[in-house]
Amino acid sequence: MKHILVAGGAGYIGSACTEYLLNNGYAVTVYDSLVTGHLDAIDPRAKFIPGDLADREKIIKVAKEGNFYGIMHFAAASLVGESMVDPSKYFRNNIANGINLADAAVAGNIKNFVFSSTAATFGQPEKCPISENDPQKPINPYGESKLCFEKILNWYSQIHGIKYAALRYFNAAGATENFGEAHNPETHLIPIILQVAAGEREKLMVYGNDYNTPDGSCVRDYIHILDLAQAHMLALDAPESGHYNLGTGKGLSVFEIIKAAEKVSGKKINFEIAPRRPGDPDTLIACSDRIKKLLGWKPQFENAEAIIESAWKWKLNHKNGYLR
Ligand code: UFG
Repeated sequence: MKHILVAGGAGYIGSACTEYLLNNGYAVTVYDSLVTGHLDAIDPRAKFIPGDLADREKIIKVAKEGNFYGIMHFAAASLVGESMVDPSKYFRNNIANGINLADAAVAGNIKNFVFSSTAATFGQPEKCPISENDPQKPINPYGESKLCFEKILNWYSQIHGIKYAALRYFNAAGATENFGEAHNPETHLIPIILQVAAGEREKLMVYGNDYNTPDGSCVRDYIHILDLAQAHMLALDAPESGHYNLGTGKGLSVFEIIKAAEKVSGKKINFEIAPRRPGDPDTLIACSDRIKKLLGWKPQFENAEAIIESAWKWKLNHKNGYLR
């Protein structure tokens, strides 16, 4: 049985990937500081080691002792807006602490490394959909930190023979039956809209209606976390190192997401137009042909309503998120 070390397995995407790996016959050890993750988001079938990637000695010891086939790295700070206020947090967590994990891979002779990268590495794209070889010019410290770690992995691949996959997610969304999105405070569009639908929040603030998009609000490519999970599993066994964009290839504006959520929930979503949020590009849409062609990725969720429906179902069954 292949054993995978999942750094950040108590977070939103890490928890769904852990569940997916376990469902597909892998053994999983989750390493997580629980700073933003939740104990209840860790699949009970996984082994859990509490720890921070800042603790270099600890993560190296864990990597050396586990006989791991691969590492999946989800443990990072991931908010575009916050990175524009506190860049230091992003460079420390996502680069300095990431290096500790890469060094742990070297120390433990773990050859397969799957990294959560992001569409934010592209900045304001020159064209959409975005392909892997399009210019990467981040417009926020979050995207810069992830791009820097992609480059670090490239050097580790050349020098230490670690095979890596940088998976550039567009906007992760949706839920599995057991695991969903619950940040505190919540800043992401879909969970905030669903809080409004559930009567937990009075209204959504729409950050800008004067973007260069058909209806003026930002356009994003929302991709289901189960489709991300499938991509991670495939990437573990990729024949060589590579970068892959992960999205549906369809862009939806903030207003279109509001409409879809109204349809799914049957509730009216109140909103108000607010100023733009610093660091937000107009439009991000993925071209994911490379991972389909090279690794046989077959996404199951093609439309936003199905994605939102899964998140809504999870929300109705988990009234307080992961709070007991
Ligand atoms: N938005 C609002 N109001 C809100 C929250 C969000 O209008 O209350 C808008 C944002 O301005 C943006 C869109 O909804 O245009 C999506 O925002 P999210 O905060 O949900 O997600 P981001 O696009 O900022 O970022 C997410 C992840 C990043 C990842 C990026 C890739 O958080 O880690 O997708 O596109 F890099």
